[in-house]
Amino acid sequence: MAVNTNNKKQLLSDADVVQKIFEHIDNSTTDKGDKTWKEPVKNYRSKERLNAELKILQHRSIVFCPSGALAKPGDYVSRDVAGIPLIAVRGLDSKIRAFRNACRHRGVQLANGHGCARVLVCPYHGWAYSLDGSLRSIPHEHGFPDVDKATRGLVPVACAEINGLVFINQDPQADINNDVSSLPKLMPDGHRLLRSDNMVIKANWKLYIESALEGYHIRETHKDTFFPVQYDNLTVVETFGENSRIAFPYQAIEALRKKKGTNLCADGRLTYVYHLFPNVLISTFPGCLQVVVIEPIDESTTCQHTYLITDIDENDTELLDSIFEGQKFAANGAIEDQKIVMSAQRGLMSGANEYLEFSLFESAISHLHTHLAKEIELLAESKSQ
Ligand code: FES
Ligand SMILES: [Fe+2]
Repeated sequence: MAVNTNNKKQLLSDADVVQKIFEHIDNSTTDKGDKTWKEPVKNYRSKERLNAELKILQHRSIVFCPSGALAKPGDYVSRDVAGIPLIAVRGLDSKIRAFRNACRHRGVQLANGHGCARVLVCPYHGWAYSLDGSLRSIPHEHGFPDVDKATRGLVPVACAEINGLVFINQDPQADINNDVSSLPKLMPDGHRLLRSDNMVIKANWKLYIESALEGYHIRETHKDTFFPVQYDNLTVVETFGENSRIAFPYQAIEALRKKKGTNLCADGRLTYVYHLFPNVLISTFPGCLQVVVIEPIDESTTCQHTYLITDIDENDTELLDSIFEGQKFAANGAIEDQKIVMSAQRGLMSGANEYLEFSLFESAISHLHTHLAKEIELLAESKSQ
C-alpha cells in the first residue's frame, strides 16, 4: 500500500526513488552512507544503558498503535511502554485517551491486551472507571469514607490521534502535536485493522530493529524467500530528522522502466520501511501496511507488537485473500530474521566482539545509533541542570 504523499516533502517522490533503484540495478550499486559505525557490545548488554534508553521512550512522543486498533468507542489497547503499564481507549465521544493502567485502589491493571468495554472494571475488587478515566463506582463504598471519587480517576498520560496513528508521551510537559508535526502522513484515511499480534523475542531490541534497516543480508538470510524476488544489497536510504526510510525493491519494479512521470506509483514494486525513531517500524506491502512497535523488556528480551492495516473494502475478498497470501510469504522472511537476531544476541554474550561493525550500506543503523547516543546525552544533561 502506498503511503499518502501529502506532507512528505523531506522524502523523495516514488519516481525519484525508482530512478535511483534503476541506476543501482544497472551499475550493481546501492546507496551508501558517508561513514561506517562501530557500536560497542556493552551498549547492548548493559542494564544502565537500557535504563537510559527506556528514559528516552518515557520522555518522547512515540507511536502507541494505529488508529485502526481503536476503531470504535470502548476499544482499548493496553501494554507496557518502557516498563510502565499503559492503556489507551476510545471514549464514547470518539476521543482517544491514555492512562497509567493501574487501579486507584491498589494498582491492579484494569485490562490486558486488546478488547472493547463500556466500562473499565478492575478485576481485583471491582472499582469501575468510565472510558474518560473518571472513577464511576466503588463496591461497598461505605468502607472508604475518605475517598473522593472525583479525584481518584485513572491517571492520564498525554495522548493524541494524528494522521491515523495514536501517539503517547509519558512526560506531563509533552506537546505531542508539536513533536510529530514534521512526520509524513503514513496511514491511509479510513484504514482498518486486519489483525494484530505480539511476540516475545529473546534478543536486545536494537538487534531486532537493525535487522529491518538494511538490505545487505537479503541473499544470505532470505535465500529462498525474499532473495528470489528482490535484490541483494540494493536499497535507497533516506533520513528525515531522527527517522529514516529504506526502499527495498522487488524485481517486479522492472515493469516501471518504460513508465515516466512524477506521479509514478511504486506500490507493489517495492517495500518502504519507515523507521520512526526510536522503536517503531512501518512497512508498506501490496494492499496493506504493517506497524510494528518494538518494546524493550530487558537487555535481552523484546516484545514485538504488530498491527496489520488496510484500506481495502472488507467485501473485496479476492483482494484480501491475496493480501493474506502475501503476508504469509512475508512472515516466513520474518521468521528468518528472528532466528538471525536471536543468534546475534548469543553472539553478544560470546565475548567475541567488543563492538558490532556497520558498513556504508547500513547507514540507517548508524543514523539510529547516532541519535540514540545524542538523546541519551541530552536527557542526562537536562537532568543534571
Ligand atoms: S485493586 Fe482495583 S479494585 Fe482493588
Ligand atoms: Fe531480513
